[in-house]
Amino acid sequence: MKYIFISKSSEETKRVAERLAGFLFPGAVITLDGPLGSGKTTFVGGVAKGLDILERVISPTFNIMKCYFEARLPMFHIDAYRLENRDSELGLEEFIEGEGVTLIEWPDYIKPLIPASHLRIVIEALGENSRRITFENIGSAYEQVIKSLKETENV
Ligand SMILES: Nc1ncnc2c1ncn2[C@@H]1O[C@H](COP(=O)(O)OP(=O)(O)OP(=O)(O)O)[C@@H](O)[C@H]1O
Ligand SMILES: [Mg+2]
Repeated sequence: MKYIFISKSSEETKRVAERLAGFLFPGAVITLDGPLGSGKTTFVGGVAKGLDILERVISPTFNIMKCYFEARLPMFHIDAYRLENRDSELGLEEFIEGEGVTLIEWPDYIKPLIPASHLRIVIEALGENSRRITFENIGSAYEQVIKSLKETENV
């Protein structure tokens, strides 16, 4: 099942991400695909807001993962860009599908660690400030998330 959202600004991207956060559950895993500068980290910032995280989300590129514990649900933000298949003795699998919500930029670089069941998000640039954001459930556990996103579109 898919939900497609057209965003016309980084604020709109954050808002749909914040809305998504309301439907997430402990152990939720979200992958974020899209080219450099498409808005993956911006999206994570919106999820953080929806999880009541006050700390500003910055790109974890240089430390691979950032953990946010002062939250409604703990949030783990992974950016695998610099990992490039150096399959981790980093212990990321301890966090993924744990107590919190895990968001993963550049998931292809840590493919073996991505659970079969997850929510896949693809961001494509349509113009300078517009983006097509596609949400897709991989596995039935995320079907309700997609349904909820559709139902709350005009709320
Ligand atoms: N509709 C939009 N949604 C998201 N970001 C947007 C949008 N329009 C413009 N932008 C801008 O695009 C940039 C997105 O940067 P961001 O760091 O979120 O990308 P990224 O996908 O995480 O990149 P990287 O692969 O380098 O980590 C920001 O400067 C943001 O302000
Ligand atoms: Mg990023």
